[in-house]
Amino acid sequence: MPLINPWASQQFKDYKKLRDEFGIEEFNFTLPDAPPIFRRGIIFGHRDFQLIYDRIINSKPFAVLTGLMPSGRMHFGHKMTIDQVVYYQNQGGDVHIAVADIEAYASRGISLEKAEKIALEEYIPSYIALGISPDKAEVYFQSKRREVKDLAWKLAKKINMNEFLKIYGFDKEANMTHLFAPLIQVGDILHVQLDRFGGRRPTVVPVGVDQDPHMRLTRDLVERWRMFSVVLQEGKIGVFYRGESPEKVLNEVASIVGDLGFDVHLNIPYKALYASGTNWEHLRRINEAIIEYERKINEHGFFPPSATYHRLITGLNGGKMSSSIPDSAIFLTDSPEEAVRKVKRAITGGGATLEEHRKYGGNPDRCSIYEFFAYHLIEDDSYLKEIYESCKSGERICGKCKKEAANLVEEWMKDFHERRENAKDMVKEIVRYD
Ligand code: TRP
Repeated sequence: MPLINPWASQQFKDYKKLRDEFGIEEFNFTLPDAPPIFRRGIIFGHRDFQLIYDRIINSKPFAVLTGLMPSGRMHFGHKMTIDQVVYYQNQGGDVHIAVADIEAYASRGISLEKAEKIALEEYIPSYIALGISPDKAEVYFQSKRREVKDLAWKLAKKINMNEFLKIYGFDKEANMTHLFAPLIQVGDILHVQLDRFGGRRPTVVPVGVDQDPHMRLTRDLVERWRMFSVVLQEGKIGVFYRGESPEKVLNEVASIVGDLGFDVHLNIPYKALYASGTNWEHLRRINEAIIEYERKINEHGFFPPSATYHRLITGLNGGKMSSSIPDSAIFLTDSPEEAVRKVKRAITGGGATLEEHRKYGGNPDRCSIYEFFAYHLIEDDSYLKEIYESCKSGERICGKCKKEAANLVEEWMKDFHERRENAKDMVKEIVRYD
């Protein structure tokens, strides 16, 4: 299967392996007005996205939360996350973006002051220029938001060192702030469900797949803090109470579930309630009502956050796209000339010689330029497919692709820089200091 196949959702062996190994589900939702990355298998996996899909389709509220480390410069790999946030905002999600300054301090030794400066000058104007509207959106700092830090230490009560090390495998030399960073991220992801930030609701976290351990940790903690586990069983839905004195609580829940129109059967000695639901949709309705009920009693009753995972874009040098390898990345603040220069030097999937290329064809699946087309530069699926196939057949040569990519990127950069200039004045509208 090809690396980037715009017309099939399943591709790339390694990503499939990731899904299988970690229980990530394949992303194959057809979303309204979906931008290219949603259509091309670039977002290849998810957890619990059905909840968000449901909210989008029914125009119901949901939150969008993601975070970026304010270290170095923002490049096209980071842009992928923001592109998704823009889409969700247009679909009605309220947006929260963390400046991961505690994480940058913990893992890269960047001071909070420096992180703030980088966020304000480098990242936030680009978020706005990429299309995030300050209306119903905020960018906040981990270090300045008390609720994030409070949830971090409070929720951590239900995970022990053994389990933690199994997820992260920290070695014994790790400094303690670094160990704390994942818990801060748990706080980021869940605090938007506190009343001050909009209350309990499904939350989508768009991230690169490298962030999955944090999602697993967060979802496990949510589950452990729930008063009930709600599960779809054969022909019914089981609701199991985890606390003491089940009678009053289960009776209240029985009446809530009954009001939704389900038949209810109580088994108090088992601390259980069975409802007549039979499918995922029933489970969702019952679970939503119970979370709403829990919230009144249990401050840590949250919706488990949903996640989507995108592929990590390949660097222009064929390796990782990274701020620390300047020629691997096009930075959003590179000049158009600089961007063009980088495109021209990028590693492609062409044959070793022109003759070989013509004879055996190129390999768009291992080509940073083709990837750039698919992820960022070309909207039209059928045109992208044409490029893919004419490269494979050997008809289209690398020089042609590079020239085309250079033109597109130059145009994109010019336009973006103009928007970015205008965005600078809007930074204060989107930043929150508490
Ligand atoms: N850990 C993320 C990174 O390294 C940044 C981050 C912080 C984040 N908080 C988050 C991502 C919450 C998603 C959700 O890039």
